[in-house]
Amino acid sequence: MDKLVIQGGARLEGEIWISGSKNAALPILFATLLTDQKVTLSNLPHLQDITTTIALLGALGVTISIDDNMQITVESGSLNAVTAPYDLVKTMRASILVLGPLLAKYGEANVSFPGGCAIGSRPVDLHLKGLEAMGAEIEVDQGYIKARTNGRLKGANILMDVVSVGATENLMMAAALAEGTTVIQNAAREPEIVDLARCMNALGAKVEDFGSNTLTIHGVEKMTGGEYSIMPDRIETGTFLAAAAATGGRIKTTKADPTSLEAVLLKLKETGAEITQGDDWIQLDMKGKRPKAINIKTAPYPGFPTDMQAQLSVVNAVAEGTGRITETIFENRHMQVQELNRMGANIAVEGNTAVVTGVDKLNGAPVMASDLRASAALVIAGMVASGETAVDRIYHIDRGYECIEEKLRQVGARIRRVPSK
Ligand code: EPZ
Repeated sequence: MDKLVIQGGARLEGEIWISGSKNAALPILFATLLTDQKVTLSNLPHLQDITTTIALLGALGVTISIDDNMQITVESGSLNAVTAPYDLVKTMRASILVLGPLLAKYGEANVSFPGGCAIGSRPVDLHLKGLEAMGAEIEVDQGYIKARTNGRLKGANILMDVVSVGATENLMMAAALAEGTTVIQNAAREPEIVDLARCMNALGAKVEDFGSNTLTIHGVEKMTGGEYSIMPDRIETGTFLAAAAATGGRIKTTKADPTSLEAVLLKLKETGAEITQGDDWIQLDMKGKRPKAINIKTAPYPGFPTDMQAQLSVVNAVAEGTGRITETIFENRHMQVQELNRMGANIAVEGNTAVVTGVDKLNGAPVMASDLRASAALVIAGMVASGETAVDRIYHIDRGYECIEEKLRQVGARIRRVPSK
């Protein structure tokens, strides 16, 4: 497996461009199944999960073309299968998002039951319960979810027991072609949901009140073709800004959207960073100072995003004072702690809270990536630490960060990718 080898100790200084959002691009790619007509998508990030999703759509018979600046054209009229194969679903849980569109458009869908992953069991009960409320018949047989509907799905009033990004997305897409109106209460409000809704409406859907916790979707008979550009990746943005805070440096992220990560910017300001911003850029300047420790409790949007807590745990690891990081969304999302402690951090996990006592410095070491955001945290730690850090199993990183070593080298990181022997 490839490794990222990092010589730490350099302050990061410079500019990094932000790619399109992975967590907006994935549901939007699946939403193209809702129409037979041509859909053109731009600003897609070049990531493993995007490649997997394109392969999955191809396996269903969808026609896809990609031009030289990663603009993708999708035509689902050629679809000739409704089964998402296990070998693709097992590599990407978000494949479950094929359920809603296929059921809505074709009345049937078979998806291999997505397993859990490092960060938690990640059930899909809310996806299935919502689809059943809309008239789908669902059975689980030999590891596959088999869903059917006689005629069109029916609009329904759905109250989500838990705020779920994926379930909200699946049900929004299912409701787009349903007969009548669907109201989803306790819906997720993440910017990626808003991006999906905007794209669906550009294709003729009628989604209202997106960004609030009560979504209304008026079903339509047919959707059209259209074009859409994916929003910037707010987690990639926050990751690079956290790297500047941890190394005492200054990074300006461009092609970014400051309005999509306000909770993260507020917490970074609490570390003592100076943050300036414009319509499409954000700069964090630490002015060489050591960060101050902060307390974080993750929550659904607009709260502090769970996808950013591992990266901020590294800022706390080298901060002045002690900070508490409480994870409330997933049951096992402090995976980076034991690796950080091997680098000299002083972190104790008590239940779902990591108590981080800042140390003067971290020491480079060989470490193992476990999940996407924990891997990003280890890369930040490697850039902070003195000496060499080798981050193994970086396929986790390639799922969510486009050209990470090229982008970090632009701001002075000494980082290189070493292919496995
Ligand atoms: C999305 O995952 C993101 N992935 C995750 O980002 C992100 O961490 C998560 O939302 C929370 O913001 C994509 O968008 C592809 P959820 P998702 O359903 O939709 C429970 C990354 O690093 N739940 O909002 O799978 C679940 O167990 C990834 O980019 C149920 O109980 O997350 C969790 O505790 C990691 N039943 C909570 O809801 C269900 O049917 C939130 O999960 C569904 C979810």
